[in-house]
Amino acid sequence: MAAPLNVVILAAGKGTRMYSDLPKVLHPLAGKALLGHVLETARKLKPARMCVVYGYGGNAVPNAIQEPDLVWAEQKEQLGTGHAVQQALSLLDSASVTLVLYGDVPLTRESTLQHLLAHAGSDKLAVLTAHFDDPTGYGRIVREGGKVTRIVEQKDANEAERAITEINTGIIVAPTAKLMAWLGSLSNNNAQGEYYLTDTIAMAVADGMEVTTSHPHHEWEVLGVNNKTQLAELERIYQRNYALSLAGTGAHIMDPARFDVRGELSCGRDVVIDVNCVFEGKVALGDRVEIGANCVLKNVSVAQGTKVQPFTHIEDASVGADCRIGPFSRIRPGTTLASDAHIGNFVEIKNSQIDSGSKVNHLSYVGDSTVGKNVNIGAGTITCNYDGANKHRTIIEDDVFIGSDTQLVAPVTVSKGATIGAGTTLTRNAPAGELTLSRAKQATIAGWQRPVKKK
Ligand code: UD1
Ligand code: CA
Repeated sequence: MAAPLNVVILAAGKGTRMYSDLPKVLHPLAGKALLGHVLETARKLKPARMCVVYGYGGNAVPNAIQEPDLVWAEQKEQLGTGHAVQQALSLLDSASVTLVLYGDVPLTRESTLQHLLAHAGSDKLAVLTAHFDDPTGYGRIVREGGKVTRIVEQKDANEAERAITEINTGIIVAPTAKLMAWLGSLSNNNAQGEYYLTDTIAMAVADGMEVTTSHPHHEWEVLGVNNKTQLAELERIYQRNYALSLAGTGAHIMDPARFDVRGELSCGRDVVIDVNCVFEGKVALGDRVEIGANCVLKNVSVAQGTKVQPFTHIEDASVGADCRIGPFSRIRPGTTLASDAHIGNFVEIKNSQIDSGSKVNHLSYVGDSTVGKNVNIGAGTITCNYDGANKHRTIIEDDVFIGSDTQLVAPVTVSKGATIGAGTTLTRNAPAGELTLSRAKQATIAGWQRPVKKK
């Protein structure tokens, strides 16, 4: 099929059964709008024209999906699938074939569409059909002598037709010029009072045209979303497929049923991912990286050998090799951890560079800081980076030891090899190699008595 291709995506429906203010095709699956999934697959076919028919929600759908390669056709009233395709016709190339997709059928694979296109042509109409154990609700494929003669909708079908288990997925490929003629002569004289795209099949047969069929590899490829239960079911199918494809290249996903990617996840060899983790945006995990249970990673790269322990949250950060992070760590945007850094429980790091071998193990906040190599930051250390108006940086050079419960009032520098005594509030720079502390002298008041309750 070398000829140029039109793609029309129907997305005008309201989605009444979603019980939502959001147009159905904008509901997210794996973090991306349903329509976005259809567009992504359609784009792989390299169509010459790609047109989305929108309607319910006015400009909400075009505003949400701003992509320069799309043209938009408005269907003001939803009078049926045939009427919907008709709205796009003037925007298509009449010399080539048109593939009709649905904006609420997100999981169709490119290979299935390529296979369908191989059955299409200027003198053929191709329909993607499937055999369902329970065909209820779908249009049925009526054949005579093995040849498709028409499609009958559930609501228009008689008992014998309802017993047919070959269903119309809705996805068809038709020669565009013919489609224009057929759609122009549709009637809405049927149970739903709609202009059915499916009526074009009988018109093609009447024109002496061959109607071919092909089938999807998996049933889930043609399942649509009509309510939030189906949305959740398709989400699980997507996630399970994603998990199994990573497992197929060597990642150990401990439970594919408790795994979520909302973007792109790449894994090196022998990566282990425990249950209930969420990966958003672009996440890359190097060889032997282990992610503990209940972690959320967004736009993160993690180099080889690093272990992220449970309940850790990392966003817009780069993590070096052989680090130990968590449990219960929060690494915020703009952070770079070099190799062999240790970040422990209840530690928040923001917009900071932590060099190799440095440790922030307990209950600390390190923000807007540059931390050198082999630094030890004691429990409860806080960088006071914000003066109420502006943010300031803290510089901690190599081999520094910061005692517990220290406040570093930025801007401030702790020079190489310095030691800061526990409980210090550091307001001026600390010189290299020396002990600096700010602490009231300890005293004992001999004979002091605790107050007692008055009788
Ligand atoms: C349609 C098919 C049916 C098929 C089923 C597969 C017709 C007449 N019937 O039925 O044979 O088995 O899909 O799921 O084609 N839409 C518009 N504008 C409209 C009407 C619909 O954009 O005026 C869009 C909807 O948003 C949806 C898609 O077209 O994305 C299908 O519409 P829907 O009403 O769900 O069709 P079905 O009755 O399910
Ligand atoms: Ca439907």
